[in-house]
Amino acid sequence: MAYYVTTPIYYVNAEPHLGHAYTTIAADVLARHMRQRGEEVFFLTGTDEHGEPVAQAAERQGVSPRELADRNSERFRELARAVGATNDFFIRTTDAPHEHKVQELVQRIYDNGYVYRGSYEGWYCPRCADFKTASELAEGNRCPIHLVELEREREENWFFRLSAFQEPLEKLFRERPDFVKPEAKYNEARAFIEQGLQDLSLSRARLTWGVPVPWDPTQVIYVWVDALFNYYTALTYARPGEDLARTFWPPTVHLIAKDILKFHAVIWPALLLAAGLELPRRIFTHGYLLMDEHKMSKSLGNVIDPFQVIDTFGSDALRFYLLREVTFGQDGSISPEGFETRYTTELANELGNLASRTIAMVERYRAGRVPAGSVERGLTESFANLPETVARRLDDIDVSGALDEIWRRVKLLNRYVQDRRPWELAKQGNDGALDDVLYGLVDGLRVVAILAAPYLPDASARLLRALASENDGLAEAKLGAGAAGRSVASVGQLFPRVAGAPAG
Ligand code: ME8
Ligand code: MG
Repeated sequence: MAYYVTTPIYYVNAEPHLGHAYTTIAADVLARHMRQRGEEVFFLTGTDEHGEPVAQAAERQGVSPRELADRNSERFRELARAVGATNDFFIRTTDAPHEHKVQELVQRIYDNGYVYRGSYEGWYCPRCADFKTASELAEGNRCPIHLVELEREREENWFFRLSAFQEPLEKLFRERPDFVKPEAKYNEARAFIEQGLQDLSLSRARLTWGVPVPWDPTQVIYVWVDALFNYYTALTYARPGEDLARTFWPPTVHLIAKDILKFHAVIWPALLLAAGLELPRRIFTHGYLLMDEHKMSKSLGNVIDPFQVIDTFGSDALRFYLLREVTFGQDGSISPEGFETRYTTELANELGNLASRTIAMVERYRAGRVPAGSVERGLTESFANLPETVARRLDDIDVSGALDEIWRRVKLLNRYVQDRRPWELAKQGNDGALDDVLYGLVDGLRVVAILAAPYLPDASARLLRALASENDGLAEAKLGAGAAGRSVASVGQLFPRVAGAPAG
C-alpha cells in the first residue's frame, strides 16, 4: 500500500520554531512507522515562500524576498534534519518546476470555467494572506490569529468560483466523516461550508512576489493556491523522470494545525475538484503547543528554540516530549520544567536505566549471553497484540495514544524487575526462574525498542544494537520471538543526565 503524508509548507517570513518542529516530528513518526510495516511511503515537507507574509517581512528587514526565502528555507531544512525527519523531499514553492505546474493547474481550473474577473472588499490579514469574515474578527477588527489590526482592502482581480462547490463539498462531508479529524474540526469545517461559501480571489494585483497568472501576467497567483498545490506538484518532480503521483496520489493524510483548517478542509478540496484531481483521504488537525496559555508563535515571541533543545538533549528527547506531553489533536501546554521532568523520569530512568540494568544483569549472571527462557504469563498477556494495537492507533493518527501504549509496557517492565528481583534469584541460585526473567526483560526491551523506534530513532537503534537484534520491522515486535544465545553489549547511558534547562 502507498502511504503519502505531508506537513504544511512553512512560511519563510521568520525562522522555524517548536510549533513547526511538532508537525514535522509527528509526520515523521507516521512515515517511519509505515515503513516498519513494509509500506511504500512518501513523506513531504517544505517551505511556502511567496505572497505578502514573506514580501512584507523582507521589506521590514530591508532584504529582497528571495534573500529572505533562501535564508529561512535553509533554516527549515536544517530543522527537519535536526529533528531527525526522514522526509523524502523538501519542496520550495520557488522551485521552477513547482511554479510551472501551479500555472498549469490554475490554467486548467480556468479552462474548466471556475475563474472570472471581479472585485471584493473585506478585512484582510497580510500575515495570514486571508480575508476574514466579520464573525472571525477579534475585537477591534483584529486578526484572530496574529492580533494585528486589519485594514479593509478592495481587490480587483481573478476569482475562483468556490461557491460552485457548495453542493459537492456538502456531499463530501456527508459521505466521508473521516475526511477531517478530529471530529470537532470536522464539525467546524462542515459548519463553515453550510453557512454558505463565497468566491475567493485567485490572484493578487498589487503583489509581484509570486507565480504569474498564466493568462494575465500582471497579476500573481494567490499564495494559498500556489501553496496548497505543493502537495501535488512535489510528486511530479521530486524524482526526475518519474511521476510519483501515479503511486502516491491521493495523499493518505495531511497533517496541519487548526490555524489553516479552512484552507485544507474547504478550499483545497474545491481546488482539486475544479482541477479534476482526486481528493486526499484525510486531513488531521493537531492542536497548538501553548506556552503560558498562549499559542507558541514567533510573532508573539513566546518560543522555545528547538535547535537549542536538540543541542543539549538530542532530537529523540524533543520528539518524545512533544508527543508524550500533548494529546495529539488537542492543545497542550509545554514548558522547560515539564520537559526536564519527563526527560529524567521517563527517558533516563524508566527506559535508560531499565536498559542498562537489564544488560548489566545479563553480563553479570549469564556472561553476556541472552539465556533461553520462557516468558512468564503475566508479561505475555500484557504484550499480546501490541504491534496491532499500536498500528491501529497510528492508522487513526493517534500519535500520542500509540506512544502511551508503548510506554505503559516500559513501565510494566520496570514493575516486573521490581517484582521478580532477579538479583535475589541469582543469590538463591534459582537458575530456571532467572533465565525466564532475564529473557523476558531482554525481549520486552527489544519489542519496546522496535515499537518506539519511530519516536526515538537514535535510542532505539542503539538499544537494538546492544541487544544484538537489528531487525526492526513491526512484525518482529512479538514478545518471545527474540532469539536466545545472542551476546548483548553495553548500551551506556541512553539518556545521559544533563545540567541546565533547555534555554528559551
Ligand atoms: O500556515 N502549535 O505556514 P506557517 C502547533 N504557509 N503547531 C504549530 C504551532 C503551534 N504553536 N505553530 C505553528 C502556513 N505550527 C502556511 C501553510 S500549507 C499548504 C501552507 C505548525 O509557517 C502547524 O502545523 O504559519 C501549523 O499549521 C503550521 O505550523 C503553520 O505554519
Ligand atoms: Mg502561521
